[in-house]
Amino acid sequence: MIMKSESRTPAETRAFFAERAGTWEEKYPDDEPAFATAVAALALAPGSLVVDAGCGTARAFPLLRAAVGPEGRVLGVDLTPEMIQSARDRGRGALGGLVIGDAGRLPLPDGVAAGVLAAGLISHVPDSGELLWELARVTMPGGRLAVFHPVGRAVLAARHGRELSPSDVRAEENLRPLLHRAGWALLDFHDADDRYLAVAERVTG
Ligand SMILES: C[S@@+](CC[C@H](N)C(=O)[O-])C[C@H]1O[C@@H](n2cnc3c(N)ncnc32)[C@H](O)[C@@H]1O
Repeated sequence: MIMKSESRTPAETRAFFAERAGTWEEKYPDDEPAFATAVAALALAPGSLVVDAGCGTARAFPLLRAAVGPEGRVLGVDLTPEMIQSARDRGRGALGGLVIGDAGRLPLPDGVAAGVLAAGLISHVPDSGELLWELARVTMPGGRLAVFHPVGRAVLAARHGRELSPSDVRAEENLRPLLHRAGWALLDFHDADDRYLAVAERVTG
């Protein structure tokens, strides 16, 4: 199966990110242009609801809030309490809701979100197919998903001292059918040094 890029349990994931939460943004200070491109790709209308799945310190919140405007809603969900606390410490709670929880079980009814940002998330969940189903469940037809990382897969693999794996869920040939099965159509795929960004649209039926 292609689904598993990381083999951590949820408890191990929380422990891994807990110790990184305090310095997360300082470690990657140059990522904003790539985030801006990902948020723009969501094509959010003012007044809409956007979900930041696996929001971490909610560093995307200023861009997401600007995209949906004062009447819109921004909801960040993250499994790691220390990440949510760091987001609060950084004042991000003023820009949107922050919830400790599993992005695979979102506290939202069906079809309410106009867009979902999944930044650095998909390789950390045990079942990426299930995650994509849940993100589709909460997204309205025509709504968009950005599966994103602020650097491309090759840069990330080098950073972690790994080879690129053909079973990587983020590879286009693996991600496209997973998205399709979960109710998404892949609109655009970009994987270069400057960012990884797969943009998908929620389809009906
Ligand atoms: C690589 S970090 C990215 C954080 C943030 N999106 C960013 O780009 O700065 C991955 C985040 O996903 C969170 N995470 C992992 N599995 C999750 C899950 N099932 N539900 C919600 N968050 C999860 C981790 O706690 C961590 O904060």
